[in-house]
Amino acid sequence: MNAMLKPALPPIFQIAHGFDVAPLLAQIDAHPDVWNRHTMRTEAYGTPHAKIDDIWVRYNAWENFTGDIAAFNGPHASTWYPVVNDIPAVKPLVFDVMRLVEGEQLGGVLITRVPPGGRVEPHIDDGWHASYYHKIAVQLRGNAEQAFCFDDAELRPMPGDVYTFDNSQRHWVVNESHDERITLIICIRGSG
Ligand SMILES: [Fe+2]
Repeated sequence: MNAMLKPALPPIFQIAHGFDVAPLLAQIDAHPDVWNRHTMRTEAYGTPHAKIDDIWVRYNAWENFTGDIAAFNGPHASTWYPVVNDIPAVKPLVFDVMRLVEGEQLGGVLITRVPPGGRVEPHIDDGWHASYYHKIAVQLRGNAEQAFCFDDAELRPMPGDVYTFDNSQRHWVVNESHDERITLIICIRGSG
């Protein structure tokens, strides 16, 4: 088929459902101190992520941080952070997703929480890590009043749903419900 006529993939779409997220949620709920141990992403001035909470589960090792954010976010191999000792159920979930997509390199792993009535403002994620890896998400908590939005697409994933999204395109998240929204984001590179 002529490449010009090949339909483009939407910027976000579901790839699986029914993943068991209960063990990880129970561990997160039992350890509220796991949130916001590393606030580089949520406290930067003007960041679109200012109103959300994070658990950085895997990324560049903190001993590599010398005060130079650009260097820290440059090319690197990700490592598990000590927080996995408090929420060990995250690892089998991540590797189930690796198997699902036949991933060959595992990059950053992040858990985000958008509070009731909260939102992530429209933005594009740039930099080496965002462009090197594909983004796969597992919805841990979610409902139909919460949406992951692009200009021409949106998804309202339920707990256990797995989906992929292109964060090089403008996107935002809205939570118009009375419940928190928690998402596991896994950065994976395949063979292509
Ligand atoms: Fe983003």
